[in-house]
Amino acid sequence: MYHAAAYFSEVSPTPFRQSLMADALKVYKALADATRLRLVRLLGRGGLSVNEIIEVLQMGQSRISRHLKILAEAGLVKSRREGTWSYYQADQESEDPLLAEVLALLQRHEQELPGAEADLQALEGVVERRKARTRRFFDSIRDPREFPQHQSLDGAFYRQAVLALLPQECGVTLDLGTGVGLLLPALQERATRVIAVDSSTAMLDLARQTAGLQGGRCEFRLGDLEHLPVADGEVDTAVACMVLHHLSDPSKALAEAHRALREGGELVIVDLHQHQDESLRQSMADLWLGFRPDEVKGWLRKLGFELAEARIVSGTDPLKLITFRGRKSWRRTPAAKPAKAKRTIR
Ligand SMILES: C[S@@+](CC[C@H](N)C(=O)[O-])C[C@H]1O[C@@H](n2cnc3c(N)ncnc32)[C@H](O)[C@@H]1O
Repeated sequence: MYHAAAYFSEVSPTPFRQSLMADALKVYKALADATRLRLVRLLGRGGLSVNEIIEVLQMGQSRISRHLKILAEAGLVKSRREGTWSYYQADQESEDPLLAEVLALLQRHEQELPGAEADLQALEGVVERRKARTRRFFDSIRDPREFPQHQSLDGAFYRQAVLALLPQECGVTLDLGTGVGLLLPALQERATRVIAVDSSTAMLDLARQTAGLQGGRCEFRLGDLEHLPVADGEVDTAVACMVLHHLSDPSKALAEAHRALREGGELVIVDLHQHQDESLRQSMADLWLGFRPDEVKGWLRKLGFELAEARIVSGTDPLKLITFRGRKSWRRTPAAKPAKAKRTIR
């Protein structure tokens, strides 16, 4: 059993520390340095830990920390604390016009900045190593009974949360990061067809077994959620259950889900609320220690999802869940909607 605890607006500190109003001189001074320009370019591609920055730039920690401090004080870079780690990212979302313009300008001209090609190649290496670690972890599982459940979270609890949000008729349904396919039996009851995607061949093999006799309605596709093997508008419903915290760039996966959904299609997300249990990085290959609701909400809104529901859900387990139900906006007028899209959002 679970209960929805609160709407996000009642909770939620902002995901990153807010920058102060930009001081123009500070901004320009911060950028008048080759290393800091390289840093801004790297951090414009996504969040990196200090260790990962060291790996890319091949510089000592104290030098990196000094440069990050200057960039943060100018408002160009924001930090996010994840347990004992800190992630840094260029503040692309800044509402300050100067910061927004300067960062956009740098992004447009990133290839002209010093060391562009080598830095971006090294960055790809870091991201690829993150993904390879996750793949190795899930590929090593040979038996569904070995499938790691969060010890502090009952699997039935979050699957119930997904099913409570899904429409009764899901049409063509995309299961993002299907794992051993524990959602597939229930999805098949509501879907005309299920497309189950995972980057681990071992997981897909086990998911085929879980899908069982009705598996004929399931298609299994090997692929990365950040580059979905699904055509534009191919699906009516997409589900991301306990998978975003494994991804290097969850916002990229959500952008892909948005592309794969038809207009008016629904996305359901169930994931971990932000926590401090560092052990899950090792025991579960988690990359993110859950999410702050506003962070996910921001990604969804930016992509053009209309949010129908966003909640923090807690049960008897120590870890809380965040749940979202959103709809891909219509680009055309309601009169132009095809009949099947008339299904109301619950
Ligand atoms: C914890 S399992 C979630 C399983 C399932 N959604 C559930 O709720 O039972 C996470 C799954 O995501 C897959 N995964 C992790 N990173 C991925 C990526 N970048 N692309 C595709 N699948 C990924 C893993 O292989 C694993 O099977």
